[in-house]
Amino acid sequence: MGFRKDFIWGAATASYQIEGAAFEDGKGLSVWDRFSHEPDKVFDGHNGDVACDHYHRYESDVQLMKEIGLKAYRFSISWPRVLPEGKGAVNQKGLDFYNRLIDQLLKNDIRPFVTLFHWDYPSALQALGAWENPDSVKWFEEYAALCARTFGDRVKDFITFNEPQCFIGLGYTIGVHAPGLKLPDSSLVPMSHHVLKSHGVATRALRSLVPDVRVGYAPCGDPCMPASLSPEDIEAARKAYFTVPENQGWAFNAAWWSDPAMLGCYPESGLKRLEQFLPKGWQEDLKVIHQPLDFYGQNIYNGNYFRAADNEQGFEKLPHPVGCPKTAIQWPITPEALYWGPYFLYERYKTPFIMTENGMSAHDAVSLDGKVHDPNRQDFLNRYLLAFKQAAEDGVDIRGYFHWSLMDNYEWAQGYRERFGLIHVDYETQKRILKDSAYWYRGVIESNGECL
Ligand code: NOJ
Repeated sequence: MGFRKDFIWGAATASYQIEGAAFEDGKGLSVWDRFSHEPDKVFDGHNGDVACDHYHRYESDVQLMKEIGLKAYRFSISWPRVLPEGKGAVNQKGLDFYNRLIDQLLKNDIRPFVTLFHWDYPSALQALGAWENPDSVKWFEEYAALCARTFGDRVKDFITFNEPQCFIGLGYTIGVHAPGLKLPDSSLVPMSHHVLKSHGVATRALRSLVPDVRVGYAPCGDPCMPASLSPEDIEAARKAYFTVPENQGWAFNAAWWSDPAMLGCYPESGLKRLEQFLPKGWQEDLKVIHQPLDFYGQNIYNGNYFRAADNEQGFEKLPHPVGCPKTAIQWPITPEALYWGPYFLYERYKTPFIMTENGMSAHDAVSLDGKVHDPNRQDFLNRYLLAFKQAAEDGVDIRGYFHWSLMDNYEWAQGYRERFGLIHVDYETQKRILKDSAYWYRGVIESNGECL
């Protein structure tokens, strides 16, 4: 058994994190262009003005992808690069960049997966109220249709949104990401509804404009894992995963952001408290939000353990074991998250599953021998991929895996402090070096995961 023959082995990036060229060729500003230049928002004042300079180096970057043996590459379009004001006038030079990148990928037999929105929201639309404005749905539809019409002759795999939990949760709820706001639920809940509706209209636009298109979604939400294999603990974890918390944690929850898109309803546990804030007519909108998807994506880095408990909810969260291994960014290493996440999500949403992101930051450095030895990442990947493979063997319809990230890049509020790449980037010289893990991943791809 193991992974399917046509398994999609890839790596992922996002526009603001790698492109640079923030003020070039007619690009408009995004909320990140502004936020990263505000004092004390980002580690050491880092910004994405140049980042990995991928805008100018995409050709050689595609060659590095080829060297790793990637079958697919997931990247995002910068909305203000192609629509500087977010709507209306199109920036042809911006479209040309993505056209060149796509052509280069196809020439090298690398399948492009395009994410429409990975957080760099047009500043011009932020000034109009962003996702809180009901018109945000039609702005996103216009943008999605432009991407469909421009790239759809060559790109067949599209992802509408990346981690709505994070751009709403971190950007508008706790304010540590752009645009740095802390809004009340009365604003946040309508925003979440408009994002979901935007997902629906974009999916519809992609279907009508792109022949043979495959559309997916890439939310997140740390999986809840059972503390033991007892049926009670498994049920406790399942319940915890899909229960919307009563505090602001709702904005980070898996079910709130997936049930409407995948099942056509909001989770009851969330509605109890949040229904009062949903915009009028929300029930009708569910028909638009709930579009059939070709794959359900999910970004997973770690999970939390739960066990059955004699309390109102029927479950309780356990702390990670003392001394639990952690990545450089201090996230716990919990390989079973790649088993239980896909397992519970497939059980609930019954849609082919793609791991749209997974990986780790490590303290990578260039050694005296000129190479980058990152045994921690290799071990991490080995363990996580084994768990993922087990999920496939236990019946989850798993179609692909995208490593985060192709190359070290701008880790949002952490700036360039965290290195998640398979490729090491020296930001002073823009020199790239394939890390040991990249060569190891090549072997995984070549053997279709048999070497794990
Ligand atoms: C989630 C995000 O999609 C991506 O942009 C980020 O860099 C990684 N995970 C790591 O935090």
